[in-house]
Order: sequence, then C-alpha cells, then structure tokens
Amino acid sequence: MLQRVTRSTVIDAPIERVWAVLRDFNSHDQWHDVVEQSRIEAQERSDQVGCVRSFTLRDGNRIREQLLTLSDTEHKSTYCIVEATVPLQRYVSTVTLKPVTDGNRTFWHWTSTFATPPGMERELREMVARDVYEAGFENLRRHLRRGGDMRAAGSAPMPTALPLPARRIAIERYGGPEELRPQTAAVPAPRDGEVRIQQRAIGVNFLDVYLRRGWIPSLMPVSREAPGVPGMEAAGSVLDVGPQVTGVLPGDRVAYLGPLPGAYCGVRCVPAEWVVRLPAAVEDATAAALLLKGITADYLLRDLGHVQRGTRLLVHAAAGGVGLLVCAWARRLGATVIGTVSSEEKARVAREHGCEHVIVTRDYRFADAVQRACGGADVVIDGLGDAARDENLAALARRGHWISLGQASGPLSPLPPDALVAKSLTFSRPVVFDYTATNEQLAQRAQRVWDALADGSIRPPPIERFSLDAAADAHTRLESRATIGALVLVP
Ligand SMILES: NC(=O)c1ccc[n+]([C@@H]2O[C@H](COP(=O)([O-])OP(=O)(O)OC[C@H]3O[C@@H](n4cnc5c(N)ncnc54)[C@H](OP(=O)(O)O)[C@@H]3O)[C@@H](O)[C@H]2O)c1
Repeated sequence: MLQRVTRSTVIDAPIERVWAVLRDFNSHDQWHDVVEQSRIEAQERSDQVGCVRSFTLRDGNRIREQLLTLSDTEHKSTYCIVEATVPLQRYVSTVTLKPVTDGNRTFWHWTSTFATPPGMERELREMVARDVYEAGFENLRRHLRRGGDMRAAGSAPMPTALPLPARRIAIERYGGPEELRPQTAAVPAPRDGEVRIQQRAIGVNFLDVYLRRGWIPSLMPVSREAPGVPGMEAAGSVLDVGPQVTGVLPGDRVAYLGPLPGAYCGVRCVPAEWVVRLPAAVEDATAAALLLKGITADYLLRDLGHVQRGTRLLVHAAAGGVGLLVCAWARRLGATVIGTVSSEEKARVAREHGCEHVIVTRDYRFADAVQRACGGADVVIDGLGDAARDENLAALARRGHWISLGQASGPLSPLPPDALVAKSLTFSRPVVFDYTATNEQLAQRAQRVWDALADGSIRPPPIERFSLDAAADAHTRLESRATIGALVLVP
C-alpha cells in the first residue's frame, strides 16, 4: 500500500523569494541541513524538467531524484526518487506555494506518496515528515533570514555581522542649515530586535528643521563628541537582521518611521517594530515622501478631524508635503477644503490636488476669507504655529476643532483655556508617532496610505530630490517657503 505524507507551513517571505529558492532543483544543499552535497547530472540546468540531482545525506545515504514538472505560474514542482540507498520506493513528491492574502507571506504545501518494505511504514513516514519536511521548513526560514538566497543570487549586498562605514549628516551644535555636516561613521551590526537598512531615499520633514534649530533638545541632544543625526523616516532594503527579529528578511524592500531621529544616513539600524515592507508598486522615493506625511494625513482626517461629507476643513501650507495629501484625501471624503498658500504657483498645485478654495497669503491673514468662503471652519489643520494663532481662532466655526500639528512660523505661545470658550472650540496637539506606536498600527496605517495611492484618493506629491550630502540645501529650500510637495534625500 502507498504511504502518504503531507505537511504545510507559512513562510514569512514573499512567494517570489521562496519560489526562487525552491524552483532551483539543486539548491537544497545550501539550505536543508540533511543534505551534505548535491549536483545536477549531465550538466543540465537545475530547473530543466527531466534533470537528475544526485546528492548525499549527512548520514551517508545517497539519493538520485528526477524533476518531473515545474510550473512558474502555479509555483509548483514534482519530483521522484530514481535510485536511493534509503528504502523509499516509488517516491513521488510535490511542492506547491501559494501567496498568503493577508500580507507578504507564503503558504508552502509539501506532499509525497511512496512504498516501503513491510514493517517500515511508520518509521519512514515519520522520517519524511520530520527530518525532510518539518526540518526543511525551519531550515529554509533560517536560510532566508540570513539572506542566503540573496548571496546565491548575487543580487543584493551581502549580509555581514561587521560594522559598515556609511555617510551621515551630523549636527554638533544647533543652528542654521550650515550646521548639517556630512561625515562618515561606522554603523554596527543590528542588535536584538533590530534590522540594518541600506537606505535609498530619506524623507525630509519640517520636524527635522525644529531639531536642527534646537527647538526640541530632549529629542536630539547634540555635542561635538556625540553629534545629533536628524531624520525620522527612510526607505531602502534590509541588509541584515538581529536576533529575535521576525517578519522581515535580508533583501526585503522596506520603509520605516520612528520617534527617534537618525535617518539622515546611508545605512541605519532601527527596531524592526518601526519597519513595514513595501509593496512592489511603491518606489523608494515615493515611500520616503509619503510614509510619515501620508500617515499624518490619515490620522488627522480619520482619528482627529472625523472628516466626512460636508466638513469645512481649513488646511494651512496646502501645497506642502502634508498639505497636498490632506487636501486630496479630504476632498475624496467629501469635505469642503479651504487652503492657505503663499504663492499663485502653490495655489495652482493645491487646486489640482483637491483644494476648492485657495487663499493666497504670506502674512497669515486668512480668517475673513475663510468666514466668507464657508462661514467658518469645522476643523483647522495647522502646521504654521504662532503667527497664525489668532487668525485660527477667528477662522473657526462654532464648536470647531483646531489641530495644531506644527510650528513652521515659530512655537505657539501658550493658549489659555478661555481662548476656546467663546465658540466652544477644542484644541489638539498630536504627534504622528503616537498613532504608530506598535508595528500593527504602523502597518495598518501604511496600508491605508498605499491603498489610497492605488485607488486615487491621494496622488504622489511632487518630489524634490537632494543628495544626502546636500541636506543643508534641502533645509534651506524647505525654510524658504518655496517648495511644493515633498523633499527627499538620496544617499
Ligand atoms: N505632528 C505631526 O504628527 C506632524 C507630522 C508631519 C508634519 N507635521 C507638521 O506639519 C507641517 C507641514 O510639514 P511638512 O513637512 O509637510 O512641511 P511643508 O508643509 O512642506 O513645508 C512647510 C510650509 O509651511 C509654510 N510656512 C509658513 N510659514 C513658514 C515659515 N515661517 N517658514 C517656513 N515655512 C512656512 C510654507 O508654506 P506656504 O509658504 O504656502 O505658507 C511651507 O512650504 C509642519 O508644521 C510640520 O511640523 C506634524
């Protein structure tokens, strides 16, 4: 009677990556511990149907197996034993992979039928299930975690436990853009729970300017001995991962944001908790331009503003990195979007991104125009800070909500509670990192941003690129009020 053994598992890696290893009929001596050495006979290709692999096991047994079918569309292969010193007879095995729909994971199904000498059925069934299939699952996981497949393919940087030299932008004392100085420093191997990332695009945020100016010294202390490195987000590829890391592998394309600065560099170690895998459709620069700003737009509109059809929304710096995303997304939700910008060129772009009423002002005078346009704002999204303080109060409608998320014009002077009482106003002072405090929250919000991009709710903003070494130029530009959309540094 034929015996049947079936095992399956989920591998935490995209299907293309798992398949790239398994479709190579001669790869098993690189990842499966029971296989000592393997070669393809007759110099055939290792994905050629009909080819025979001849291998020795660590226990000294020898096996010859033939590849019977291979389908790249179905991610499926079948093979059989032609000759073996183990008593497996008429052994035919099938490997099938399927993508897991809830993420970048792979379902792997491995099954076989075979005959055995009488009395050895159970022993051989257990041997195949445990030593071949279950051990194989674990061994392949480890192989991918170490980036063994990337090494074999030669397609990505080799993971290494060594420190890597990388460019970074360091600040030894707070001040103007000229304090952003390029230098080279060693980036150590990732520690427990960390991943080391080869960065290809770094998002520039106005928060980086506050840090450089010394407005939040507790977040980025600086000194000559221990310079501060600004930057809260970037995109790139995982070079290597530290112990205890699950969910990301060397070679994965990722983006991250996190509450501690340090992103202005070529290579960085960050907690794996901060990291999300990137969909293939989202390029590195788009990810760096969108991740923090898009998630900010998401929490502002969904969680704080409760923006819906008919909400009268006032958005300052409507042509900026956050502003354009907020305008487009709010319009899609049915809000009436009113924006302030400082130039006609910005007004044009803001309109293109869904801002219905654009107020062009350089001197933070907008309350009358807002009242005329819509009778007052239900929600104000304000990254301007102090210079717009009184006008914001005047622009709000009864029971309006002022969300103060930034201070491009200067830190907001203290607001007495009685300033809110006249119209029963409410006030929030949120920070994006409190909305992405766990990897689950981050992944959910990032997914909403990629979905919004895919369904047209938001468009990729115009992106101005600067080399990492030219970070000072990027800051000068951002502070000049001339930029439209997002700025990205390229290491
Ligand atoms: N709390 C959070 O979670 C969070 C997250 C992301 C961003 N933010 C805040 O959101 C705001 C927008 O950030 P962003 O990175 O997308 O920047 P951005 O809007 O692309 O650039 C800042 C814009 O602010 C306006 N601005 C007004 N007065 C200014 C001044 N004195 N100096 C410089 N700019 C001035 C300018 O637009 P106009 O010339 O058109 O007025 C400028 O383009 C910032 O306040 C930032 O701190 C907060």
